[in-house]
Amino acid sequence: MSIDPVSRAAELRRLLTDASYRYHVLDQPTISDAEYDRALAELRALEEADPSLLTPDSPTQRVGAAPLGQFTPHVHRERMLSLSNAFSEDDLRDFDARVRRGLDAPEGDQIPYVAELKMDGLAVSLTYVEGVLTVGSTRGDGYQGEDVTPNLKTVREIPLRLRGDALPYPSLIEVRGEVFMSHEEFSAVNEAREEAGEPTFANPRNAAAGSVRQLDSSITAGRRLNCYCYAIGAATGGVPFSTQAELLAGLGRWGFRVNPDVAALSGIEEVIAYVRQWEERKDTLPYDMDGVVVKVDNLRAQRSLGATSHDPRWAIAYKFPAQQVSTQVLDIITNVGRTGALTPVAMLQPVAVGGVTVSKATLHNEDEVRRKDVRIGDTVVIQRAGEVIPEVVSVIVDAEHASRPEWSMPDRCPVCGSETQRAEGEAVTRCLGIACPAQLKRRIEHFASRGAMDIDRLGDKLIARLVDAGKLADPLDVFALTKDDLMEIERMADKSAQNVVDSINAARVRPLERLITGLGIPQVGATAARTLAQQSGSLERLAAMTADELKLVHGIGPVVAESIERFFRQDETQVVLRKISEQNLKIAAPERQDGDGRFEGKTFVFTGALETMTRPEAEAIARRLGGTASGSVSKKTSYVVAGENAGSKLEKANALGVTVITEAEFLGLAGVG
Ligand code: IVH
Repeated sequence: MSIDPVSRAAELRRLLTDASYRYHVLDQPTISDAEYDRALAELRALEEADPSLLTPDSPTQRVGAAPLGQFTPHVHRERMLSLSNAFSEDDLRDFDARVRRGLDAPEGDQIPYVAELKMDGLAVSLTYVEGVLTVGSTRGDGYQGEDVTPNLKTVREIPLRLRGDALPYPSLIEVRGEVFMSHEEFSAVNEAREEAGEPTFANPRNAAAGSVRQLDSSITAGRRLNCYCYAIGAATGGVPFSTQAELLAGLGRWGFRVNPDVAALSGIEEVIAYVRQWEERKDTLPYDMDGVVVKVDNLRAQRSLGATSHDPRWAIAYKFPAQQVSTQVLDIITNVGRTGALTPVAMLQPVAVGGVTVSKATLHNEDEVRRKDVRIGDTVVIQRAGEVIPEVVSVIVDAEHASRPEWSMPDRCPVCGSETQRAEGEAVTRCLGIACPAQLKRRIEHFASRGAMDIDRLGDKLIARLVDAGKLADPLDVFALTKDDLMEIERMADKSAQNVVDSINAARVRPLERLITGLGIPQVGATAARTLAQQSGSLERLAAMTADELKLVHGIGPVVAESIERFFRQDETQVVLRKISEQNLKIAAPERQDGDGRFEGKTFVFTGALETMTRPEAEAIARRLGGTASGSVSKKTSYVVAGENAGSKLEKANALGVTVITEAEFLGLAGVG
């Protein structure tokens, strides 16, 4: 007897949605990751075999969708208010006095309040129609935000479908919450961006906002974002709650994640004590909070207090003071990175800022040091921006400042003594030494890092010792290390040496994209590496591709393409490639994510106005089926898909004799529509 795919798909959706709720919201997983993955794969297969089984709330939709050309505006049914701020205990007492007056509260009566942590992220509004997430939007100006639905669908803590078993939900409801990023994820994202030579995010809030306001939702899917919900906007028929505390509990029952650190308090003095307590404890949280939101608990009282033109009168945000302290600059050193980039770092008289001791702060680059005019011996104000990266804010100019020598970038590498150079129009200065041990150490650290070959037992200290002892001349030498080499260098115990060797051996089996990431090609991070692995299928093929061919790969721009070609032309890279083939590595070619690869090796150019889809959507279809989408027509173009009013690209295609097809013909080829 064959199982009916319709009911099987529904069953799998229920199973997966429930498992995800238990894992992400209740923190009580009920099935293993492997079981989850298996069920998800089965559902995906069913949906692929019969796309009519695909529903908007399917857990398979969390992976991101085709990139958008731009965001469309979304009008909030109920306005998203902001909050007025309190900066002192007296501000809180004044707020309480206003509330009491507004409610005509008898003297001596204590107002019931709810205090919630104020997460430092970005506000979102989630619209559910008949329990299904239909729109996720940013706050915007409060009246109108941007529709970022595909991005928010990738956030696991946002339910795609509400649970209505214990508590019925309104047929249409707007739920408001804060999307934010944990410190751990922020560091991982920035580390990856730094390795890829991309600019890093200044703090977790910017990183969360940058991830949500992202036209390519597959990038958002790769970032682990959190979302705590705390309010309701429009709701047909109203909501079945009489207090904010009940509302929060109700959101939890519908499947939203709600911050567990909430308190029901009686009177403003209890609120003040609570706020003081969090001011002390805030650095123990795994994410940034910038204050405490105090809300009148009773919803009827909230309604009778109403709102000013900007803020509700029934709530206030107590903001913690910015964490800045002053300390002395003992020295300014320069760190040498993987590509030779020199980063000035201020070495500080250790000082406590917001619960941690800070002894160094980045100065980013030469221009930053000049702009702030930081000199050795100066007293500076430092802050932990977004609680994570300490940075120098400004110099406190004292009598001696002017007599201290100005700092300048060293003209020799502090590690290998080679010349340094700052290229025209660039902010970074680089060490030009080809054999610079600092660069080599960073390159090997990168090769062994979590996002690359993931050799967890090969730590930075061990790498430094092995390089200094001449055991490693390039990252690939890692695979030639023996237990004896290790025991000689580290004087480490037999067992630990064996663990390192085992960890190295385990890394002989890695997907191609990780090897490409690990090579540290300038401008190529994990995302580009994945694309390159998909498109080339093997390192040999990638190494043989010219910059012109690479430019045709979607997501690879001309600068990156040139950088890749240059990298593979270098003599040192040839040595590395030879070692890779000698080392018996089991590098797995990428499997296609989906699609049947019918467009393998084909390059498409879309031009003119398409009727049934946007250009990015069309390009995504081409890529999903193994093809490449390009912006310009050349002899190598397989098809030009010409829409209404196609212009110069169509002419060029005709001149070059490239096949020109219509949109409908393209969809026919793709087997869509
Ligand atoms: S309530 C009318 N609760 O802070 C109620 N906001 O400064 C509006 N925020 O726009 C918001 N945590 O982005 C509320 N527990 C919390 C919050 C919170 C963070 C953010 C939210 C809001 C901003 C106002």
